[in-house]
Amino acid sequence: MNALSDRPDRYGLVSRTFHWGMAALFAVQFLSAAAHWALPRENALRETLWGSHSALGTTLFLLVLLRGLWGLANIPQRPPHSGAAGQAALLGHVAIYLLMVLVPAVRLLAAAGGTRGFSYLGIPVFPARETAIAWMQAPAEWHGELGWILALVVLGHIAMATVWHRLIQRDNVLQRMT
Ligand code: HEM
Ligand code: HEM
Repeated sequence: MNALSDRPDRYGLVSRTFHWGMAALFAVQFLSAAAHWALPRENALRETLWGSHSALGTTLFLLVLLRGLWGLANIPQRPPHSGAAGQAALLGHVAIYLLMVLVPAVRLLAAAGGTRGFSYLGIPVFPARETAIAWMQAPAEWHGELGWILALVVLGHIAMATVWHRLIQRDNVLQRMT
């Protein structure tokens, strides 16, 4: 259990697997969004990437819920974030979590209140409605914008971990997640 759980000097195997596994899946998810934004409809690469956007986004939504629960269960023994800079980093992590939940959640809410129905990996989740429910559709207007904000915040996060901690401060912050 020890190697699986977080410790004050290091994130455990479960947290590290969530972190790096989801980082790879997010890279694909942002690629598909970029392809949707930048390439014409008939482009084959766009079609391939975009074809899995909803399913991968739903997978990420389920994974972030599990990861959040695991993080909460490990709070007493997680690596500390002391001082003003540490608290700012913690706030940054909370912002990433909020966006990781909110971005897919607004689209899933729209699917739940929409006329097309929604299936995940072939399993019917939301049946098609006769008429769409307006309040369930409204937050999805912000899905793309919130998704790009998440991408920017994550770019800042990567810069802080690699340039600030690894190259400038030369502390052990990157090692505790690797
Ligand atoms: C964490 C997961 C997700 C991320 C990071 C994400 C990100 C994005 C981004 C950045 C865009 C804008 C693309 C553009 O500018 O053309 C977008 C569009 C879209 N996404 Fe997602 N998405 C996620 C999950 C989902 C899910 C779960 C669904 C469906 C159930 C979905 C459906 C769509 C649709 C239909 C669009 C095009 C319309 C729009 O911009 O709202 N996404 N997504
Ligand atoms: C090359 C890419 C990345 C690097 C080098 C990196 C590095 C790190 C490091 C070193 C930590 C530990 C920081 C600390 O303890 O204060 C961390 C934590 C974290 N990272 Fe990343 N990260 C990357 C990508 C991502 C991505 C793509 C996401 C989410 C979309 C993400 C979300 C988080 C979150 C939420 C935490 C807080 C700990 C947790 O609950 O998992 N990271 N990252």
